[in-house]
Amino acid sequence: MKKKISFIILLIIFMLSESVFSDNATQQLTQDNATHFLTDNSTLILYYSKTGKTKIVAEELNSLISGSKLVEVKSDASIPAAIFWYKLPFTKAKIEPLGVNFEDYDQIFLCTPIYMQGISPAIKAVIKDIPLKDKNATVFAICGGFYGSFMRWIVKNKIKSKGAEVEGIYVVKVGGKTNEEIEEQTATHLKTVLNAE
Ligand SMILES: Cc1cc2nc3c(=O)[nH]c(=O)nc-3n(C[C@H](O)[C@H](O)[C@H](O)COP(=O)(O)O)c2cc1C
Repeated sequence: MKKKISFIILLIIFMLSESVFSDNATQQLTQDNATHFLTDNSTLILYYSKTGKTKIVAEELNSLISGSKLVEVKSDASIPAAIFWYKLPFTKAKIEPLGVNFEDYDQIFLCTPIYMQGISPAIKAVIKDIPLKDKNATVFAICGGFYGSFMRWIVKNKIKSKGAEVEGIYVVKVGGKTNEEIEEQTATHLKTVLNAE
């Protein structure tokens, strides 16, 4: 009888400790899953991507800013047109309607590839077309390895001339980088953006 009772007590202790362990495990999982930096419904992320690298950056921003809206900008601008014709100041690429109510958004992230030290014609068209007055704009410039400060200054001033505050132009270098490394650069830049606010 004594043996039976001690067996039952041991069993209860074991079951209790099991439930404590599994509670811890669930808690840990929840913490690990909480990978976003903030929740913000007033953030809009617009991106153009031809070969997919800018898309990685935009999607990472979208997952780090819970509640943000991600919209792909579609344009028929070819690469040759991007590096020659659309470099001229009076030219403007055609983009498909964005279907966005801009009044709903205060923070706008513009994610663009860099071609010959310039932003993509699609994002150039976005900057020209959308209402930017009193918005906070942040540019993520995705390049192989180099995007010069003078060209960044030009883009910054173009956006400012439309009445927006420019949080910064952040360069993500994708040459020879893995997708994870691209996501890490994005997260590091976003931390800087958020601390700057
Ligand atoms: C025509 C052309 C010009 C480019 N010019 C530059 C450049 O000036 N500096 C740079 O670092 N990368 C340059 N790149 C690399 C692109 O910026 C890079 O491949 C970028 O990831 C493309 O974005 P996507 O994958 O979203 O289309 C150029 C690429 C192409 C095709």
